Amino acid sequence: MRYLLPFIFLFSLVSSFSVFADQFELGKKKAVVCMTCHGAKGISKIPTYPNLQGQHVEYLVASLKAYKNRHRNEGLAKLMHVHADKLSEKDMQDIAVYFNRVK
Ligand code: HEC
Repeated sequence: MRYLLPFIFLFSLVSSFSVFADQFELGKKKAVVCMTCHGAKGISKIPTYPNLQGQHVEYLVASLKAYKNRHRNEGLAKLMHVHADKLSEKDMQDIAVYFNRVK
């Protein structure tokens, strides 16, 4: 058992990394429509559109929910409603991981 533990540890480490990499790739695919306004890597070319690169996952998901349930309605928020409406909780998480991690 003593010899087995490092392997179990290593295996769980490697498998958690690959789950994360999968989520990043999945998020990248789901974020294609977002990239037209927010930039391919989350750096927007339009100064009134926010950058998303490096933003916290929790904040990104909370913002998307706020558009979806219309808690965010001011100004340009209307542009986001139609996009947030199409996202499930899982989509939001995947996309958030993409914009959080992309370099
Ligand atoms: C038509 C252009 C457009 C598209 C497409 C678009 N967005 Fe946005 N997004 C905006 C604008 C403009 C804002 C700022 C709205 C506001 O003032 O609340 C914004 C705001 C956001 C915010 C809040 C940022 C912050 O700092 O509070 C998030 C998160 C976001 N968008 C994610 C997405 C995701 C994810 C997608 C794709 C599913 C997407 N956007 C598609 C234009 C767009």
